[in-house]
Amino acid sequence: MRKTIVEMLKSAGENFISGESIAGKLGISRTAVWKHIQILREHGYEIISRERRGYKLKDAPDLLLPSEIQIGLDTQIIGKEMDYYPSVDSTNRVAKKLAYHGAPEGTIVVAEEQDGGKGRLDRTFYSPRGKGIWFSVVLRPNFLPKDAPKFTLMAAVAVAEAMARFNLRAQIKWPNDILFDGRKIVGILTEMTGEIGRITYIVVGIGINVNISREEFPKEIRSVAASLSEMNGALLSRVELFRAVLEEFDKLYIEVNKSGFDKVIKRWKKYNVTLGRNIRVISASDGESFNGKAVDLDANGALVVETRQGLQTVYAGDVSIR
Ligand code: BTN
Repeated sequence: MRKTIVEMLKSAGENFISGESIAGKLGISRTAVWKHIQILREHGYEIISRERRGYKLKDAPDLLLPSEIQIGLDTQIIGKEMDYYPSVDSTNRVAKKLAYHGAPEGTIVVAEEQDGGKGRLDRTFYSPRGKGIWFSVVLRPNFLPKDAPKFTLMAAVAVAEAMARFNLRAQIKWPNDILFDGRKIVGILTEMTGEIGRITYIVVGIGINVNISREEFPKEIRSVAASLSEMNGALLSRVELFRAVLEEFDKLYIEVNKSGFDKVIKRWKKYNVTLGRNIRVISASDGESFNGKAVDLDANGALVVETRQGLQTVYAGDVSIR
């Protein structure tokens, strides 16, 4: 409802639009329109009202509000339902809860800030207010649990393709970190709930550092974290970038459901900075570490590493480039 009001205000441009015509289009009373306008103002929309003329939009906030994101969002599955929080502990936690209670596939949980952002391997993820895109997507793919890690690769490729729209070239480190200058810009955490032969749901959580300057990062992570604004040399619109990510995600997800992961793996290889490099691997299963050369990504999304003892396949773990 509020999305339509914002849409009407935006298309009116410099003109006022009467409360009556908004009410007529939405089939609600003028008082109800006024209440929605008040809520939009609370969310940061600057809306002028004039007696007998109606309402005019002066400024829209750079917030990841559903009313902003969904306008002009060209997706079939992703982002039809959006749950927005000014602040939350972790969007993955909320998305898992929603998924458990039956949220439809494509549901998004997004927050301006997380105070308990979760990273892979039980790490925390720094997610300051208004400076990035911290969100999670609920998926219900008809795939086997063993295929779940490939949705992480898919998410990394989706972000890489969205960045390309802004002329930013992503570098993906296996399995899913996107780097700039060797420092992390994007992190992805995929969590799955399933039975032996069936995925019940997957939550893909994506954290994108958008407008964080080098000095703003806490000292402990300054040497390992970066943001898109640093890469771009200027601030970016989070709203536009978020729409682009959701659209690329939607396209790839439809492709994967139709034809499997071949295209994702091909695209991932185009962006990867791991293959062909000497790396150190810490395996997630047993914590063992070893050195080798990353030689391939197999059809399951696992990393094939050439070591003195022969080829080793790594399904989950952490890689550093040496
Ligand atoms: C990693 O690099 O270790 C993964 C980081 C994933 C962070 C995102 S931010 C949105 C979503 N909610 C979370 O708590 N984590 C993911």
